Amino acid sequence: MTIDLAVIGGSGLYSFPGLENTTRHGVDTPFGKTSADVVIGDFAGKRVAFLARHGESHGVPPHRVNYRANLWALHSLGARTVIGVNAVGGIRDDMGPRAIVVPDQVIDYTHGRYTSFCDAEGAEVKHIDFSEPYTAALRRQLVDAAGQAGIAVIDGGCYGATQGPRLETRAEIARMKRDGCDLVGMTGMPEAALARELELAYACLALVANFAAGCGDEAEISIDEIFAHLKAATAEVPRILEALLK
Ligand code: HPA
Repeated sequence: MTIDLAVIGGSGLYSFPGLENTTRHGVDTPFGKTSADVVIGDFAGKRVAFLARHGESHGVPPHRVNYRANLWALHSLGARTVIGVNAVGGIRDDMGPRAIVVPDQVIDYTHGRYTSFCDAEGAEVKHIDFSEPYTAALRRQLVDAAGQAGIAVIDGGCYGATQGPRLETRAEIARMKRDGCDLVGMTGMPEAALARELELAYACLALVANFAAGCGDEAEISIDEIFAHLKAATAEVPRILEALLK
């Protein structure tokens, strides 16, 4: 099967608007079950596969996502190019609610997740180069596509991946800022590293839902506001991807 693009939808993106003539694929992987069936259909004249990272009714929290099964399933169905759409908190001043960012670096603060396909004893150990965690050419295409669609995106930024599902303390975010993180999210890793192990082209479209703890004016982060901002930013995603597929 030819798949031109696979999209992993994060919080707020549980199905792909505009995907037509769809078929659903439950994939048995050596790593267990995916978060949801992979839905394959036509979009912008191309074959697109969609997978809801948290399940179609948001039943899978970030630390329980089977990242290995998800990537494995997309690869086994024929996907070679993957865009991960991720809800994030903004740390950098210009990355406030509703900003859309195509990050170029990652710092991984997660723990206890399966971070590699090389897990079974005797399996070949693969030390991937991860200096550039996202595929540079795909990042460029994504940024250009947003430009063509007339949607402002910020090109570059460091994504700090936290364990969740709770949001961070102010001190944690202050430390992440000192470390050089511009964004914080719970699902960017190990997804990006697993994609690299499978030699998938992979880039992240980060949708800013809120200022991270201590970064905005608000004393507390409102979950309702997070979802309202996410809804607005998510609405831009199909147009960016349509331009990407042209
Ligand atoms: N922290 C971590 N993940 C997030 C946030 C946040 O503030 N907002 C949306 N996803």
